[in-house]
Amino acid sequence: MYDFLISITMPEKKIKQALVEAANVSAKEKILDFGCGTGTLTIMIKEFQPEANVAGIDVDVKILNKAIEKSEDKGLDIFLIDYDGTHLPFQDNRFHKILSCLVFHHLDTTKKKIILAEIFRVVSNNGKLYIADFGRSKSWLQRTLFNIIRGLDGFKPTDANAKGLLPELISEAGFANVTINKSFKTMFGEVQIISAEKYNLINN
Ligand SMILES: C[S@@+](CC[C@H](N)C(=O)[O-])C[C@H]1O[C@@H](n2cnc3c(N)ncnc32)[C@H](O)[C@@H]1O
Repeated sequence: MYDFLISITMPEKKIKQALVEAANVSAKEKILDFGCGTGTLTIMIKEFQPEANVAGIDVDVKILNKAIEKSEDKGLDIFLIDYDGTHLPFQDNRFHKILSCLVFHHLDTTKKKIILAEIFRVVSNNGKLYIADFGRSKSWLQRTLFNIIRGLDGFKPTDANAKGLLPELISEAGFANVTINKSFKTMFGEVQIISAEKYNLINN
């Protein structure tokens, strides 16, 4: 149902494709899809680079079971795991790249900060973060349309998105070169593709 609804209301494939293109995953890289849901993006990453080591994580076991079913149907070797929603069950510096699509507007600002700190911890030095999520649009219409999602998903979790603060929160977590690379106008407001880098001054 989620897959169907999102496919008719959003340029979902284009947004996920833009994330995959931005990440440009290489063979042997370790990749995490944060908040992977039913695994659509996770599968796209693995299909883009079958030699990569791809994992997806989510808090919702039911949704995750759907992702497992989809990846097994395609015969793909993807590691899918649930967790407590706060502490990522991975060692420091584990992943070369972390991607995330339409997850952060579900997290209130305090949770966004906790999760971004966790993501910063588990991404490797010189590793990259790619997020697609709602941001503050220059267009009045797009800002107004985002209120539909805010009404549905809650005003608290979407607050930093509506104010355009997600890039700032990413920087505050320690990431450098935080950039909005692309944006998509949708029926529910503007979705932005943000990239960032964990730049270790000591090693560079
Ligand atoms: C709108 S769906 C997007 C799913 C997927 N990324 C996609 O684009 O198809 C949001 C997802 O975020 C997950 N989520 C919510 N809070 C989370 C958290 N703290 N950590 C990880 N995932 C979370 C939900 O369970 C849900 O699967």
